[in-house]
Amino acid sequence: MNLKLKIWRQANAEAKGKTITYSISDISPDMSFLEMMDMHNEQLIQQGEDPVAFDHDCREGICGMCSMFINGEAHGPDRLVTTCQLHMRKFKDGDTITIEPFRANAFPVIKDLAVDRSAFDRIQQAGGFVSVNTSGNTQDANAIPIDKHDADKAFDAATCIGCGACVASCKNASAMLFVSAKVSQYALLPQGKVEATDRVLNMVNQMDEEGFGNCTNTGACEVECPKGISLENIARMNRAYLTASLKG
Ligand code: SF4
Ligand code: FES
Repeated sequence: MNLKLKIWRQANAEAKGKTITYSISDISPDMSFLEMMDMHNEQLIQQGEDPVAFDHDCREGICGMCSMFINGEAHGPDRLVTTCQLHMRKFKDGDTITIEPFRANAFPVIKDLAVDRSAFDRIQQAGGFVSVNTSGNTQDANAIPIDKHDADKAFDAATCIGCGACVASCKNASAMLFVSAKVSQYALLPQGKVEATDRVLNMVNQMDEEGFGNCTNTGACEVECPKGISLENIARMNRAYLTASLKG
């Protein structure tokens, strides 16, 4: 396939960015999107040009690093996949592909397509964990029966990889889907209930401090989420936040 790539180039967070158009040829439909980007970067390096900076790590849909906004969609045109799992067979010979970073005030651009998503880390650090107090009398987790329905919902919430596609897809740059997945993952399990009140208050407050927008229930986040995280988690978190606020 021969393609045109319109790629956002920006030297750093302060620099004014712009879209630059490149041509690339001999792309196999079996290549992953990131392999295509690697090939493009090799060509840029051979020409003495600066390669395009983009984040990636596992290339298996697990780490959540490969944040790219492709043809107006976070992680591109396929459903329930990350950019690293997107294949070039989703495009046609002669296509023009527009590639931008995930855009949100809370995700400043580091360079080109790489953005700083440490706001997610700070939200997680505000309460996305279970404290382990080893008193010597700690009950074995396997000895606590958990309703299968709750276990499944908790597991589904735990599949959130923190990629930020929900924020990038939301017209308000809201992080509600991410935060609600992290809150739900624990709220549904007995081990997580002990700190549930502080967790939801602290994580939501940190989310607000980081400058994410409000949720207006447009649902774009759920559509673009590579892990199929359900809006149901947002409703659960809103109920938990209200209850916790009344207690506080
Ligand atoms: S909820 Fe989905 S889109 Fe948002 S960070 Fe988690 S995996 Fe990514
Ligand atoms: S590189 Fe890890 S999810 Fe894409």
